[in-house]
Amino acid sequence: MKRMNYQKYAAYQTVDIPDRTWPDKRITKAPIWSSVDLRDGNQALPIPMSVDEKVSMFKLLVSVGFKEIEVGFPSASATEFSFVRKLIEDRLIPDDVTIQVLTQSREHLIRRTFESIRGAKNAIVHLYNSTSRQQRDVVFRMSREEIMAIAVSGTKLVKSLKEESGNSGIRFEYSPESFTGTELDYALEVCHAVMDTWGASADNKVILNLPSTVELSMPNIYADRIEWFCRHIKDREAVIISVHAHNDRGTAVATSELAILAGADRIEGALFGNGERCGNMDIVTMALNLLTQGIDPELDFSDMPTVREVYRRCTRMDIHPRHPYSGELVYTAFSGSHQDAISKGMKAHARSAEGLWDVPYLPIDPQDVGCTYEAIVRINSQSGKGGIAFVLDKEYGIQIPKWMQPDFGMAVQEVTDRTGEELSADQIHELFQKEYIGAKEPYHLKKCHISWDDEDPEANDEVATIINCSILGPDGDISFKAKGNGPLDAFVRGMSSQTGLDFHVDEYVEHSIGHSSDALAISYIRISCGDGRLSCGSGIDSNISLASIKAIVSALNRLH
Ligand code: KIV
Ligand code: ZN
Repeated sequence: MKRMNYQKYAAYQTVDIPDRTWPDKRITKAPIWSSVDLRDGNQALPIPMSVDEKVSMFKLLVSVGFKEIEVGFPSASATEFSFVRKLIEDRLIPDDVTIQVLTQSREHLIRRTFESIRGAKNAIVHLYNSTSRQQRDVVFRMSREEIMAIAVSGTKLVKSLKEESGNSGIRFEYSPESFTGTELDYALEVCHAVMDTWGASADNKVILNLPSTVELSMPNIYADRIEWFCRHIKDREAVIISVHAHNDRGTAVATSELAILAGADRIEGALFGNGERCGNMDIVTMALNLLTQGIDPELDFSDMPTVREVYRRCTRMDIHPRHPYSGELVYTAFSGSHQDAISKGMKAHARSAEGLWDVPYLPIDPQDVGCTYEAIVRINSQSGKGGIAFVLDKEYGIQIPKWMQPDFGMAVQEVTDRTGEELSADQIHELFQKEYIGAKEPYHLKKCHISWDDEDPEANDEVATIINCSILGPDGDISFKAKGNGPLDAFVRGMSSQTGLDFHVDEYVEHSIGHSSDALAISYIRISCGDGRLSCGSGIDSNISLASIKAIVSALNRLH
């Protein structure tokens, strides 16, 4: 094996915090959520959203329940600026929603940003500059002091522009961008300077956003950094600690969750993890992770199909079919053992009194996010008889009994193995019809009349049913009149005596399909022959006795 060049990389620095407390904590409530879909998400799109698309996305975010929404980088482009103006001028911002606008810590950009929010009831001005060692050395070629001065001058200007505007609904957020690459003590120093300039206090809290601009370590190290920061900040009551995780290592959700344990109050992220490079933290996943722990996420994803549709339309991005909670395949089981367990779990759930969700392989009830049960079990060559029965039951009300499931399972398996393809619920239903209901060879029941032999003085309860049948067999017509203790018994006696077939019914189940007055009856029958052969059949008719007789003929037709 060729070795990869791992020596090229250095391990990320750990934090000296042996008495860390976050590992023993639990999340008990939703954080303050802030959506960055319209800014970080948008700036990462090959085709950024138009103003109309941004309006659609904004309305979606409001309907989901976001109270803080970063709507753009208004000084960056005319589209960004006019979108913010449109939100304000067209009164599209509900009173309880705060828009957030991002600006670099540069005078002309800050001034333009303030112009964009004129007239907004509530707004967060989000100021950032990059503080990491790498950016200081390589990008800006500036000392720590010079970088700190950029933060402070921007903070001062923001403060004076707020005062000039007279708008008390404006709040402040500061991000030491590239925090994950910034020495902790230096990040703290810069944030303290920002707090001082803004006059942060318990009554005038400022948001300090500590971004995982590039995800450089495991989530536990990030959590250590957040706990360290929360412990060392000079006035914890004067700040809202926010995190903004990117997903370079694929652990942005874990990073954000552990950051909450470590003391963060607020989470920035985007729907389905859209954002720069590997994306921003996926708010859908984090919110639904809370839901599945019995915590109110304070965001409503109960109509996931609509959330997906608006997201796809506005961003032109796809959602991976395996995406947590929202992907098209995440509530689908193909494998037989999973299908069986899901089917049993769903039945147990339907019977359970407390209603607590406890279904194998499904950490969330698909219906809670607007997905239907029909999608849960899909059938291919990996599937089992339980899953096939589940699909027929859920989609067509056909409840194949357990003893018959292997028989139909084999018929399905034969098709999926031969074609290598998935079978839809409709195709499974068609196959059931073809195998059992529609089979007319070698026996085709043409006529069957059932009567009760009340006038026969010999008749008693055991031999009171008379059956008159006409069947087209392999060698021509078979007609008989036979008596039995019920229609099935009479039919078996007549058929055996006419054909010489030695069989009896050893399993029988029936139920109705549909609830209306014209509901049909379906019967499932297994016959056992003298020579040991077993065969299953099924019949459907408005008359329950006829459905059973058809089921026997169906079983005879499947006798090999
Ligand atoms: O990722 C980041 O650091 C950012 C900042 C501007 C908050 O997007
Ligand atoms: Zn970002």
